[in-house]
Amino acid sequence: MQKMNRRHMLSVSAAALAAAVPATRALAANRSLIFRAEPSDVRLSGVDGPASQMMTYNGTFPGAEIRLQQGDRLDARLDNALEEGTLIHWHGIRVPNAMDGVSMLTQEVLSPRQSFEYRFSVPDAGTYWYHAHYLSYDQVARGLFGPLIITETHPPDVDRDITVQLLDLKIDASGRFDPDTDTLAFTTLGRIGNVQKAHLSDPQPVRIGDRIRLRLINTATDRIVAVQITGMNGRLVALDGMPLADPRVFGVLTLGPGQRADVIGDVTGEIIVNDVREDAVILGGLSASGERTRRKVGVSALPSNPAAPFGRAAQDVELVMQGGAGGGAHRGFAGWAFNDQSGLSGQPLVRIERDTAMTIRLVNATGWPHAIHLHGQHFYEIGTDGSIGDYRDTTLLEPGQTRIIACQFTNRGRWLLHCHMLSHQADGMVTWIDVT
Ligand code: C2O
Ligand code: CU
Repeated sequence: MQKMNRRHMLSVSAAALAAAVPATRALAANRSLIFRAEPSDVRLSGVDGPASQMMTYNGTFPGAEIRLQQGDRLDARLDNALEEGTLIHWHGIRVPNAMDGVSMLTQEVLSPRQSFEYRFSVPDAGTYWYHAHYLSYDQVARGLFGPLIITETHPPDVDRDITVQLLDLKIDASGRFDPDTDTLAFTTLGRIGNVQKAHLSDPQPVRIGDRIRLRLINTATDRIVAVQITGMNGRLVALDGMPLADPRVFGVLTLGPGQRADVIGDVTGEIIVNDVREDAVILGGLSASGERTRRKVGVSALPSNPAAPFGRAAQDVELVMQGGAGGGAHRGFAGWAFNDQSGLSGQPLVRIERDTAMTIRLVNATGWPHAIHLHGQHFYEIGTDGSIGDYRDTTLLEPGQTRIIACQFTNRGRWLLHCHMLSHQADGMVTWIDVT
């Protein structure tokens, strides 16, 4: 963990700090945040370990938390102090298209020593994140990401509100960042790390009986995690930032790269966060000390976000995922393709008029899982029986799986649709939708 430098103290952390002190929140919301993307030495394997050449915003790894209240404006300046281009994307936030941070589609890549102002308001409460969106398989792996938390106007009654960034680090034998140039990774599971961690925004011990909120964010470039939490009887209250109508009991929460989940529950003992996707791995936790009387009321649903009225689908399209190791032939030029096309082209997957709905039938015709992310708006996952399911911005498909998603496009512009396994995106799994 890096020490915070002075600029950082004055910029990004001001918002995080202000969140804990509501009286000064307006100050944070109205002042400009500075994101200085810079090369940074980070000791990934502890304070005594060797320094790795990473990239951070303001020297902090993983990125500092930004906290705003629903309806606030985010006013941020990105200063590019890297030796390569960069951009910031505000994952899951309904931003105006010009603020979406996607190279070739919404803005020019920011060259070294250039700055760019991102300004928009945040219409939905929930757990979101920001990350680099240029050479993202490398820039995100090196540290250009962080949580973006939008608090409800009337937040739920909890003793603690803790953000949990799930990290997947690839570290070589010397204890340094391993850039993993193994080309096979791009067409298989992607860049999978060997050290997994849960980075908690607030590591203080909890009391038995505390009601806590955990905001889980899978920040891995490619790894899927199956989160299991012991020490609390948690209810799932939101997915990808969006509240569930009914809090849900869960055993395991599977999160693809980019996906988030909010859990609220009462502490029954030491909190341990595990990944049970393969062999069980302990990612982190919180020790328990002391006790308080438990609340008598159960966990209720979070206040809903303003949702767009959902009309009849004006179009139905199909998006077939193709390629990867062992996959059949396709006509795209790279390792992966959507509908026989690799990479961004001048033509969108589909054009649709604003304020109309569309269903997209996602067909995973590959032997590998994919986490498909749509920019600018959330969509409903449609059940195999036609029922309307969760409202998300990223949907995970296991090999051979098919899922229909339905989306009301309320946000004009050119919106990226891609696999959030960033190695897959880099190797062709990307397209866009034009909302006119
Ligand atoms: Cu979180 Cu296109 O990305
Ligand atoms: Cu993929």
